[in-house]
Amino acid sequence: MGRSQLSDWAFQRCISPRCGATFDIGETLSSCLRCGELLDVDYQWDRLPVPKSLREFESAWARRHDPFAFSGVWRFHSLLPFAPREQSVTIGEGQTLLQRADWVAPYVGLEPGRLFLQYEGMNPSGSFKDNGMAAAFTHARLLGAQRAACASTGNTSASLALYCAVTRLMRAIIFVGSGKIASGKLAQALEFGALTIQIQGDFDDAMARVKEVAKQLGIYLVNSLNPFRLEGQKTTMYRVLEALGWEPPDWIVVPGGNLGNSSAFGKALWELKQLDLIKRIPRLAVVNASGANTLSQLVNTLGVRWNAGEPDRHLIAEYFRAMEAENRRASTIASAIEINRPVNLTKCLRALEWCEGVVCDVSDQDILDAKAQVGIGGFGCEPASAASVAGTKELVRQGIIGKDERVVCVLTGHQLKDPNATVAYHTTDKELFSKVLGCRGVRRATFANRAVVVPNDLEEIIKAVRLYS
Ligand code: F0G
Repeated sequence: MGRSQLSDWAFQRCISPRCGATFDIGETLSSCLRCGELLDVDYQWDRLPVPKSLREFESAWARRHDPFAFSGVWRFHSLLPFAPREQSVTIGEGQTLLQRADWVAPYVGLEPGRLFLQYEGMNPSGSFKDNGMAAAFTHARLLGAQRAACASTGNTSASLALYCAVTRLMRAIIFVGSGKIASGKLAQALEFGALTIQIQGDFDDAMARVKEVAKQLGIYLVNSLNPFRLEGQKTTMYRVLEALGWEPPDWIVVPGGNLGNSSAFGKALWELKQLDLIKRIPRLAVVNASGANTLSQLVNTLGVRWNAGEPDRHLIAEYFRAMEAENRRASTIASAIEINRPVNLTKCLRALEWCEGVVCDVSDQDILDAKAQVGIGGFGCEPASAASVAGTKELVRQGIIGKDERVVCVLTGHQLKDPNATVAYHTTDKELFSKVLGCRGVRRATFANRAVVVPNDLEEIIKAVRLYS
């Protein structure tokens, strides 16, 4: 693929301050060629028309017939200007909603008016991945790629499959672990015509393989190692700020799996502060599932920090060695974040540093109870997304988040992505409950809305409706 200089002001830069090597955006790279660290997309902002105020973005609202003004990603083009605006790829992503969630606030221990839910499940493929896919596709198009691949716990693959199906620009090749993908997500990949490679193993195995295959066959990789994807994922933060009248909240709470979103949010907020577009950076809370809590272990138990770009690599390597030796595998009902080796670990450590961040982990029980509370409000989310709400409850309990602080929980995926978990929780069927949830250590369905079983008899039915309504 092309090696010519594609942009005068955008480039890829190694995130290690000690290395800082730069590469043209025409190169397809997953890591720094000099030191192996992750890469950022970086800009020479002083050569670009940066908005003077975030309010300038409001003018795009009046031009909704223009697909790039309609897109919740590309209407912020000037904050991710690696490609010409008119060469960007859009399928209408980013039409998402921030909702004040007073019905969930008491559950997590916040005062009314302090909790907001950002519904990224409203994206075309039903998850936040579309924000990043629009940007990765734009980069892939610049490079003339023909095939794109990813390893996935389901949402990245659904998004990739959708973008390939709609745009016809590339062939989708997805790698999934066996039995590790929620049915709604697998259904999408199959229906949208992606080449679906199901390998024996889990996400971490699939991730290792897809990197090898992409390298060997010259296939464009859209996992969040791809720094262009994370440029698109920055835009969730812009939309949150937009919905709050450009006034930053106190906290952004996000589930952590491969740690792409948290890394992208940190970069978005840091850049806005550097560009003097916000006065204050919200704090970031990243929430792991207890069964997949590498970040929480490294940060909270082992004290690993970004440390000015020199995190304790020895300690991290030791942690992974022990994990391998004990054959510890990630296991959580929140299958989207069932990941033990997050590829964006160091970037996330940097985001935690920039945003005075914290990490916590929550049990599957807490995740499902929180999910049920979100669902009562009408939009719903998949289990991994509810980790943000369960994590907020935990951080309020620990006194880290104050009861009167303004908190935005990012709900990353749609409720219908994983119907089995939802039905098992609410069902009266003990067998399904124990089969789907019991093996994950979930003992109760605290907020179950059970079906009322009645004989097919009008009088009995009327009696039941009277009794329960
Ligand atoms: N929530 C949902 C619904 C997800 O699908 C994912 C990741 C995450 C949270 C975690 O985000 O990786 O940026 O920390 N899903 C990936 C996938 C891994 O393959 O779909 P992250």
